[in-house]
Amino acid sequence: MKCLVFLLLLCVSTIFSIDGNPKVIIIGAGPAGIAAASRLLQNGINNVTILEAEDRYGGRIKKTKIGEYITDLGAQWVHGEVGNVANQLAAPLGLLSKSVRPGDTEPIYDVMVFDSSGTKLPEEVIRGFPEFGGEIKGDMIGLDDLKNGSFGEYMRKRVDDWFAKRPEIDPKLHKPLTHSMELVMMAIVGAESSDDVSALGVKNAPACPGFGDLNWKERTYGTILDILMKRYPNPEEELPVLNKTMLNKKITKVNYAEEGPVRVTSADGEEYTADHVIFTASLGVLKADHEKLFEPQLPEKNKKAIEALGMGKSAKILLYYENPWWESGGHWAIHTFLWTEDDRKALENDPERAWMLGLTYGFEVEYKPKLYQIWLSGPHLEQMERLSEDLFKNQTLEIIQRFFGKTHNLTEPTEIQRTSWNTNENFRGSYSYPTMQSVTTVSGPAELGEPVMRGGIPVLSFAGEATEPKYFAMVHGAIASGWREADRLINLYQQ
Ligand SMILES: Cc1cc2nc3c(=O)[nH]c(=O)nc-3n(C[C@H](O)[C@H](O)[C@H](O)COP(=O)(O)OP(=O)(O)OC[C@H]3O[C@@H](n4cnc5c(N)ncnc54)[C@H](O)[C@@H]3O)c2cc1C
Ligand SMILES: *[C@@H]1O[C@H](CO)[C@@H](O)[C@H](O)[C@H]1NC(C)=O
Ligand SMILES: *[C@@H]1O[C@H](CO)[C@@H](O)[C@H](O)[C@H]1NC(C)=O
Ligand SMILES: *[C@@H]1O[C@H](CO)[C@@H](O)[C@H](O)[C@H]1NC(C)=O
Ligand SMILES: *[C@@H]1O[C@H](CO)[C@@H](O)[C@H](O)[C@H]1NC(C)=O
Ligand SMILES: *[C@@H]1O[C@H](CO)[C@@H](O)[C@H](O)[C@H]1NC(C)=O
Repeated sequence: MKCLVFLLLLCVSTIFSIDGNPKVIIIGAGPAGIAAASRLLQNGINNVTILEAEDRYGGRIKKTKIGEYITDLGAQWVHGEVGNVANQLAAPLGLLSKSVRPGDTEPIYDVMVFDSSGTKLPEEVIRGFPEFGGEIKGDMIGLDDLKNGSFGEYMRKRVDDWFAKRPEIDPKLHKPLTHSMELVMMAIVGAESSDDVSALGVKNAPACPGFGDLNWKERTYGTILDILMKRYPNPEEELPVLNKTMLNKKITKVNYAEEGPVRVTSADGEEYTADHVIFTASLGVLKADHEKLFEPQLPEKNKKAIEALGMGKSAKILLYYENPWWESGGHWAIHTFLWTEDDRKALENDPERAWMLGLTYGFEVEYKPKLYQIWLSGPHLEQMERLSEDLFKNQTLEIIQRFFGKTHNLTEPTEIQRTSWNTNENFRGSYSYPTMQSVTTVSGPAELGEPVMRGGIPVLSFAGEATEPKYFAMVHGAIASGWREADRLINLYQQ
């Protein structure tokens, strides 16, 4: 095997100026790009440049200051322990924590359901329903007879079975509870609709075992980037990744048409050349721009995967309160939003308010007791992102008042912030998911991540969460994909 690659190398070394000092361009300074650059630098491939469109590095890892806290607008939790590279890097440094409340010895969630008329659903009505959400996804692993159906179909069947066993639940609540379950599930998967998500695809991407939502205490997920670049824990060991990163460099063309170096053009008209390009921009960016970006067009296999895979939509709203109004004495309080059918119908066609149907749940952020976070999923989220600041704030306060005003003595937040992942053209969504089409046509992460080869040499490679067959959608998948593509080049040159 080694010999073969060596021979190939000899053959093509006349075409490329391969002398063991290749020039590598990485497009995108998110976790995949930073992981790839760090790995290359650690292995003696030093001629590396990261070109990043935004005015900051980190990608979908992004922090914000709100009140006295620094918190995450993008990735927030380390999902799982075993097999999770983020956990493997951060846990030994003591940086991660489970959501254990003072007085508890393990994470206990107190899930409450509030409807759009401000009523808190009685405990006995929803008993077991929130926990059941976790089972729906978890149980799939053991299902050998799962067919090529959608996750939505599977989920609704499970929910109907659950209702059938609980005749005491008012049938009027069946639809609203099903909608609510759909949103919670789509918050995990990232899709707008569960009918588009492949049940088999979800099953075949099992979560890393262990605790599912490790938090970074007072820190943010950005610490993982510092660890990757070796700025943390010992700043003296820092790899020069950031020195090799150029911000505000939006790439508009990747030209690999001719023999010789790949030519990369940025929106400001600069041209950069490299022996190898690693492209890490999101699936959303690829979907929107791949035909314009690549010259020549990408191979059929990559193109089919770009079209077949799904790019999800998610959003967060953050509210900072000097005096929190929610129940903070006991276990983790999680508020679920439930629209009554009438209220749902009234909102569905409202061009300013339909986004509210994406309200999934609200909760206090770990280690940030004055910070209330609302998670949103589903369609219409761009609508929220496009509202004027003033209208957005008014509508957010209207929501809080509507769902919690009757049951709590509300206080005023001093700051409200929202995310903009779906309208930002450098992201165009939140994270990828397996669709019916990607699973049945076998056009998934592996196909998306297949490098474009020339003479046996990868000239254009793809990294990023959407290219990771097992841990797509998540930071640890993005890191693994960056390492994968760095290793591909390292192996090429270190025979
Ligand atoms: C709201 C939200 C919450 C999330 N929560 C979690 C969580 O709790 N846990 C978890 O594990 N994951 C979470 N994720 C997912 C996680 O953030 C992503 O999986 C991960 O950041 C993907 O990394 P990446 O390097 O593949 O892509 P990105 O982070 O998107 O990085 C790609 C980079 O490419 C840049 N770029 C795009 N186009 C161009 C161009 N034309 N030229 C140059 N540069 C370009 C982008 O600006 C970006 O910096 C969340 C995501 C969102 C949006
Ligand atoms: C990196 O590669 C480019 C293009 O081959 C070359 O001009 C430049 O001198 C190299 N830089 C270093 C630090 O080796
Ligand atoms: C799913 O569909 C594909 C393509 O039609 C088929 O090859 C595969 O056997 C199906 N799998 C199941 C479990 O039905
Ligand atoms: C980055 O460049 C600056 C200026 O040349 C230098 O002082 C610094 O040490 C570099 N950082 C790293 C981590 O190499
Ligand atoms: C928001 O609410 C304030 C106070 O009620 C009001 O003065 C303002 O006009 C509202 N803005 C919008 C855009 O609705
Ligand atoms: C709200 O405040 C009033 C007056 O202090 C108090 O009587 C009442 O119990 C409070 N309600 C809640 C839900 O905390």
